[in-house]
Amino acid sequence: MDINSIRRQFPLLQPNLIYLDNAATTQKPQVVLDAMDQFYKTSNANINRGVHKLAEAATLAYDDARKVVQKFINAQKSHEVIFTRNTTESINLVAKTYGRSILKKDDVIVLTILEHHSNIVPWLQLKDELGVRIEWVDINNDGMIDLDQYKKILADHPVKLVSVSAVSNVLGIRSPIETMIELAHTKGAVIMIDAAQMALHERMDVQKLDCDFLAFSSHKMYGPTGIGVLYGKENLLEKMPPFLGGGDMIGEVTTNHFTTAELPRKFEAGTPAIAEAVGLRTAMEWIEQIGFDEIQKHEQSLLTHILDILQRATVKPVTILGALNPFQKVSCISFTLDGIHPHDLTQLLSQEGVMLRAGHHCTQPLHKRLGVLASSRLSVGVYNSAEELDQFAKLFEESIHQLDGSHSAARSA
Ligand SMILES: Cc1ncc(COP(=O)(O)O)c(C=O)c1O
Repeated sequence: MDINSIRRQFPLLQPNLIYLDNAATTQKPQVVLDAMDQFYKTSNANINRGVHKLAEAATLAYDDARKVVQKFINAQKSHEVIFTRNTTESINLVAKTYGRSILKKDDVIVLTILEHHSNIVPWLQLKDELGVRIEWVDINNDGMIDLDQYKKILADHPVKLVSVSAVSNVLGIRSPIETMIELAHTKGAVIMIDAAQMALHERMDVQKLDCDFLAFSSHKMYGPTGIGVLYGKENLLEKMPPFLGGGDMIGEVTTNHFTTAELPRKFEAGTPAIAEAVGLRTAMEWIEQIGFDEIQKHEQSLLTHILDILQRATVKPVTILGALNPFQKVSCISFTLDGIHPHDLTQLLSQEGVMLRAGHHCTQPLHKRLGVLASSRLSVGVYNSAEELDQFAKLFEESIHQLDGSHSAARSA
């Protein structure tokens, strides 16, 4: 893979910008920016409602984007692909339609302690609203989901729904979703996969996975912000009530009644993110051109390199959260340093052109479970290079040195 040629396709990636915050959002290649620009310049109109030429072109562009997503995740039908704003909205859609209409008081929802707040809060809202119960699956010391506990919860409780992230946005660990899906189905529960951190690193095949719902965001896979995807099995989407009400999601409206449109429009009220759908489609085609095998090989070598850098840091011992084996990780590595706040380190590195993330990464329960308030996170994308990591290593040591010095000075003052 020619990293230099890939990097050149990203206008924001200048030589002295080391962007290692890809789990938060990725940069966008020129082809994605061009596709959106081109859409506005040549085909912009509102979709579905118009019969003029531009409206037809825009509707076609939007429908074609859905077909590309369908192919990308291997959904059986294109109307099983619902466009949302992001992963958060996709999960909320399921909680507030499937959850509200099917779940009852004392039904159990299973989550893991690894989850992002987006995959916690909608279910907590349902708990407050309906009186459903939440059972939490723990992790072991390596950050792996405790499958024995999961099996026990499934055996002991009236579990109706499981929602789990495919890859932790802190530990980078890939969850055993295949096994979790199979076990949930044995129990008769539906299962939702939060694929926000999987979509750009691994091929998703919803038919092979046999998941009931799957959610991801375009902006985390080289596509634009403002659009995300909810995949749902047709039979489930059919029986769910609509999420938002308004234009486009209706069949007929009278002064005291409405009927809903067919899938997928039932769940896409109002004018959707049309240019963004075109951008997402282009991002998916761009990823396919490189190929997931190449992407994984490259990112795996970067992770091995990062772990090596962190473990060999001479200024101060680094505590890496979760497994140390790079082959158990996908894209991100989080760590803490004794006596140095992640925000101080990240700020200092940012001044040198290195972008990391610091904080709880929207996973407060996980950080509490790990006994830390905050951590620093590096997350790689396809355009990162070994040379950048070497540069990071140098600046990392210098920053720690500087922070340690200023802390000692402050202590002795
Ligand atoms: C695992 C996971 N789930 C959900 C989300 C929420 O994604 P968005 O903000 O695009 O809705 C994120 C974002 O970081 C994430 O990492």
